[in-house]
Amino acid sequence: MSVDGKVAIITGAGAGLGRQHALLFAQHGAKIVVNDLGGAVDGTGHSDAADLVVEEIRAAGGQAVANKASVADREGAKSIVETAVKEFGTVDIVVNNAGILRDKSFKKMTLDEWDLVINVHLNGTAYVTWHAWPIMYEKNYGRIIFTSSVSGILGSFGQSNYGAAKMGMVGLMNNLSREGASHNVHTNCLSPGAATRMTASVPGSSIDADNPEKENRPGLVSPAALYLASADAPNGRIIQAARGRFAADAVYSNTGVDLGADVTIDDFLANIDGILDMSDAQLKTNFWRD
Ligand SMILES: NC(=O)c1ccc[n+]([C@@H]2O[C@H](COP(=O)([O-])OP(=O)(O)OC[C@H]3O[C@@H](n4cnc5c(N)ncnc54)[C@H](O)[C@@H]3O)[C@@H](O)[C@H]2O)c1
Repeated sequence: MSVDGKVAIITGAGAGLGRQHALLFAQHGAKIVVNDLGGAVDGTGHSDAADLVVEEIRAAGGQAVANKASVADREGAKSIVETAVKEFGTVDIVVNNAGILRDKSFKKMTLDEWDLVINVHLNGTAYVTWHAWPIMYEKNYGRIIFTSSVSGILGSFGQSNYGAAKMGMVGLMNNLSREGASHNVHTNCLSPGAATRMTASVPGSSIDADNPEKENRPGLVSPAALYLASADAPNGRIIQAARGRFAADAVYSNTGVDLGADVTIDDFLANIDGILDMSDAQLKTNFWRD
């Protein structure tokens, strides 16, 4: 894959999926900024997890440097991109992967728990991408990955903060894929599933129910990340990756019902079945022209 010689920032690469992406990208010749503040799943604390992954990459003959800033901190996000530029001269790839959980039903969730999760996942993704964007735009090359989730794309229970942030990334991608297209800056979403410490509390997460002998290893997701980081990456797509299965998600819309300029609530109610009927739904890629 064409990441050889490219400079890749991978956030949250001290553990789980990010670490696997970093090891695979380095194997394929990319120079890696291993970002990770090394906290717990709930985002508290910090450690030197990033250093360990840098050591692993270097021991295997690859090139890597650590950055331990938080993506949720604007100055921290800036420092991640600065580390890439200072150490390797530029940035070609950003994999926004850092993440935390504060799962709770919406009724019990505090607004601090809301803010924390939105800040790491959605704002952190936007901050790091925002600092890398002008560099990529100027040189007409960039590959950006947002780590989304079925918790947002399909919905979950007890993950409203997380799901909102993860679907927010899809909205950000839908806009950036248009803004970057003319300058060869491609933005895509990866929606992974793997047994990591983040999913440790989810029953059955470590074993594929249909294929129990096949483990749900995070490394099974990384080929999709490598593809989305490569020169061949599409633009504005969502790839699902878990347990060695890969698929795509997209937004479909039905034709709808045109009730004219004199529409009343009675007309609307008389047509509600047609309005909600998705049997003729088609892929929707452009709100104005499709
Ligand atoms: N594991 C899954 O099944 C799954 C499913 C859907 C989405 N995801 C997403 O994949 C990503 C990776 O998750 P994982 O399962 O590998 O979990 P993980 O906990 O093993 O890894 C997340 C890493 O992000 C780091 N991190 C957290 N907050 C950070 C911050 N503010 N700045 C920098 N680093 C920070 C952590 O220290 C940790 O090393 C997350 O965005 C997660 O939401 C995972």
